[in-house]
Amino acid sequence: MTLLNVDTEKCKQDGLCAGDCPAGVIYFKPGQYPELKRGAEAMCLRCGHCVAICPHGAMDHAEVALADCPPIDPALAITKDQAVQFLRSRRSVRRFKADPVEKADLQRLIEIGRYAPTASNAQVLRWLVINDKGRLDTIAGKVIDWMRGLVAGSGEGLLPYMPAVVNAWDKGFNSIFQTASCLVVAMAPAGSRNGMVDLTLALSYLELAAPQFGMGTCWAGILQHAMESSPAIKAEVGIPADVPYHYPMMIGYSKVRYYRLPERKPPVITWA
Ligand SMILES: Cc1cc2nc3c(=O)[nH]c(=O)nc-3n(C[C@H](O)[C@H](O)[C@H](O)COP(=O)(O)O)c2cc1C
Repeated sequence: MTLLNVDTEKCKQDGLCAGDCPAGVIYFKPGQYPELKRGAEAMCLRCGHCVAICPHGAMDHAEVALADCPPIDPALAITKDQAVQFLRSRRSVRRFKADPVEKADLQRLIEIGRYAPTASNAQVLRWLVINDKGRLDTIAGKVIDWMRGLVAGSGEGLLPYMPAVVNAWDKGFNSIFQTASCLVVAMAPAGSRNGMVDLTLALSYLELAAPQFGMGTCWAGILQHAMESSPAIKAEVGIPADVPYHYPMMIGYSKVRYYRLPERKPPVITWA
């Protein structure tokens, strides 16, 4: 099979595939069947737009197989109001049930994360899952040691929240991971120019999908800051030193429920 395979029985020669191809690699002339431009194989983004846009199921792609691309079910479409409420009701969850997080649930959420867009459809993200309260306690302890140094130091690098975090730890509360026993870290390799954007979007997908699975998430920004400042903490988490882009997210079964949609500042827009 070549990269593109057109089923000539089904193709209506409407040119939709060629017109929507973001890389412009499909040659089409009215009255003919679409085909991959000569020598254009490397330029194809493997984004599957040509498969997705064909209403006749006539286009197959060697790396985005038609058989793996289910039809969109109009019955599952959501209304504008549903979309707004869905997006507005996303919350950072910090209170988690003590139940161990099932590997299958984590796998399902991470699989949803891979449908987030990636620049040039690069799909180079890697995932690290630490599903072990003991390990999270050890990592948090290292973060606290690092933070204690800053609290006791000259003031350089000290952030306003740090004394309270250290204080809480000394009183037995872990503000770094709250009540989470599981951490998901999204990573992108060196050389991925949009690595940080790609992994942020994937984690956002996880965050949005989590409540539908009875789960909740919270970005672990304190740990991220510690890892950016201390290679030893990054190593403790298990992120290879040569992986420059990463962000950790707490995850677990949510213990809380919210009843209202909190308001946010109005957008600042320049209509240029
Ligand atoms: C990049 C990023 C880092 C964050 N880091 C932390 C964190 O370390 N600890 C925490 O409790 N919440 C953290 N949060 C959650 C924010 O505090 C939260 O998004 C904000 O207060 C708004 O609440 P909401 O997410 O429920 O809308 C982080 C959020 C983002 C986007």
